[in-house]
Amino acid sequence: MRGIRMMMSGILLVVLFCSCNSKQDTGQTVAKNSNDEVEQKVEALLAKMTLKEKIGQMSQSHLRSEKMDSYKEKLQKGLIGSFLNVEDRERGNELQKIAVEESRLGIPLIFGRDVIHGFKTIFPIPVGQSCSWNPDLVKEAAAIAAKEAAASGIHWTFAPMIDITRDPRWGRVAETCGEDTYLTSQFAAAMVKGFQGEDLADPQTIAACGKHYVGYGAAESGKDYNTTWIPEPLLRNVYLPSFKAAVDAGLATIMSAFNDINGIPASGNEFTLRRVLRDEWNFDGFVVSDWGSMIEMKNHGYCIDDKDVALKSIKAGVDMEMVSESYINYIEELINEKIIVEELINNSVRNVLRIKFRLGLFDNPYCSEPSEPVILTENNLNTAKELAKQSMVLLQNNNSLLPLSKDIKSLAIIGPMADAPKDQLGCWIPDGKAEDSQTPLHAITKYLGEKVKINYAKGIEKCSSKNKDGFTEAVNAAKKSDAVILFVGEENNISGEAKSRAFINLPGVQEDLIAKIAGTGKPVVLVIMAGRPLTFSESAKKISSVLYAWQPGTMGGPAVAELIFGDESPSGKLSISLPRTVGQIPVYYSHKNTGRPPSKNSLGMEMGTPLNPKEYNSKYIDVDFTPQYPFGFGLSYTTFEYSNLTISKQKPGLNETLTVKADVKNTGQMIADEIVQLYIRDLTGSLTRPVKELKRFERISLKAGESKTVEFELPVNELGFYNNDGKYIVEPGNFHLWVAPNSDEGLKAEFEVVK
Ligand code: GLC
Repeated sequence: MRGIRMMMSGILLVVLFCSCNSKQDTGQTVAKNSNDEVEQKVEALLAKMTLKEKIGQMSQSHLRSEKMDSYKEKLQKGLIGSFLNVEDRERGNELQKIAVEESRLGIPLIFGRDVIHGFKTIFPIPVGQSCSWNPDLVKEAAAIAAKEAAASGIHWTFAPMIDITRDPRWGRVAETCGEDTYLTSQFAAAMVKGFQGEDLADPQTIAACGKHYVGYGAAESGKDYNTTWIPEPLLRNVYLPSFKAAVDAGLATIMSAFNDINGIPASGNEFTLRRVLRDEWNFDGFVVSDWGSMIEMKNHGYCIDDKDVALKSIKAGVDMEMVSESYINYIEELINEKIIVEELINNSVRNVLRIKFRLGLFDNPYCSEPSEPVILTENNLNTAKELAKQSMVLLQNNNSLLPLSKDIKSLAIIGPMADAPKDQLGCWIPDGKAEDSQTPLHAITKYLGEKVKINYAKGIEKCSSKNKDGFTEAVNAAKKSDAVILFVGEENNISGEAKSRAFINLPGVQEDLIAKIAGTGKPVVLVIMAGRPLTFSESAKKISSVLYAWQPGTMGGPAVAELIFGDESPSGKLSISLPRTVGQIPVYYSHKNTGRPPSKNSLGMEMGTPLNPKEYNSKYIDVDFTPQYPFGFGLSYTTFEYSNLTISKQKPGLNETLTVKADVKNTGQMIADEIVQLYIRDLTGSLTRPVKELKRFERISLKAGESKTVEFELPVNELGFYNNDGKYIVEPGNFHLWVAPNSDEGLKAEFEVVK
């Protein structure tokens, strides 16, 4: 059978080859790790489908309850293949019943939803999660999110968002895993495996969607949806690898982005969607456009009209159109006019049907009530608390103020984020509920019990408020307390999609409130709960301790309480550099050295006061060239000592593997986790190379006084890069290597790669 089918498709390809000139034109997808039975079912079903039914599979509608009647007729005709934002299991089953039992071929629908960082149990926003440097825990969180979503009738999440960005002005930095390609790639694979499990047909797993393909995080000036100019080596070395890692982990779908890439919008980009995704990576899932990203190619000035949109999208390889209707309205016309061949459509339909079969939707199209509780269970909440704790980054702890003593007599809890149940959940929480949030105010009150007097004052109504009427009450609360925990940050609606900010300071009058509270002379812990890196260097000077908690999700309160009072030490490390000022952006660790690298002699500048340059090199004359806090940075309640760095070979060959070892000792008084990082630098290349690149990391736990030898295996083949010819090369030459606590310091070794 397989032989005949292959011969048939071979004949078909010969015919098409004559008319289409290349494999790309037909979009022929060679199913990877193809389950032959699925392929046979796909082909058998495809052979029965009319053109209209095929186009139906390529169309996704946004569910509007008031349009149920119109959906019914279209579903009976097989003209819709998917919905997004189906609100619950009952509605989903209602729609599915029509599609499966009242249409000619009974092809089940696939329901998509933005399950970005949790469904009902909300985990920290992804940029926070990535500061845990714990892919296994993030995978566990994704699996919980999948279980909760699947129980509600969702088959497919529009996650993971695996865009790289170095621009915290961009609101969607909240949804990323930070600035680094290697770290994001580890999380990309972990989240795909978490959402999809080992078997997509498992009713407790859902299909993942790698987004936004590709380069969306490089939007000009941090403005969402904006243009990107990414030379191919940069695209391949920085922006594509996280998607490749997701595809290699079995990614079921990919979402084409809003931005144009070097003048060609991502939803009409044959290079990225066919040449890279299909021909090089052999991706056999399906590509869905982003919301309207196809018809927006008219706004881009790339398409004349919706017919042109349909033509350029299908030629590029978008298989399913999210909410707009250019495919429904023009694909048939394009075929009748022989502008495209039906085989192009067939391949998109194959990709969609393949995932529907792999999801088991044909065998089990309906969602039943789960046999056991799966929503907001104790296990889910405990995992959310653990991930929230590991996501939080201790940036400053002068005089070791933290952990606070549980024996204090009174504590002031102040600020607009102390009791902000919705804001602490972060962006993209369509199904998360504020009433399920456990806020810091309530968690700390419960944690300390009756013996400690809690003096609570909001100080400011909302983060962005300008009204200072609450300051007096807040100052008074601080004055009558032994210590202060001050919760500031951003509301959850000023980060995320379309939420770019030109200023990334603490919004409103929060910095004034910090100054007032610091002015009381009380020991102050500042907890920042934000959806992006913020600038707060002046405030940090007035404060003893700073804990960056991101927007920590449902269990943010208990997580903060347990860290602040020392149940365990903070262990998070920054996955994105924190700038001193917005004027530094982009500021990131894996930058190039340039011809005139800055020297540390110029450091220590007073921000904002221009100086005459002593040295003529690449820096500012009114702020230090270094970030406020570097990538990989995070403090602990203990201290760690790194020693005895060794590498297995001084001159490794191109096909060899370096074994790198170092000892890490807990030289403090408290057990804690340390995230040990391995960086390299290629000193000279046929293209200039970054001054540092993260290549490995490991989270280790060390008791007080305990020492461990950390060992990394680093194949020389991973020290290469893509050149201007699109080729991956490893060039002999001199390298530096660090085993480090962050990107700014560490033990250094040198070696030479030889032919
Ligand atoms: C939005 C977002 C995308 C999301 C989609 C569906 O515009 O860009 O991330 O998954 O539409 O809600």
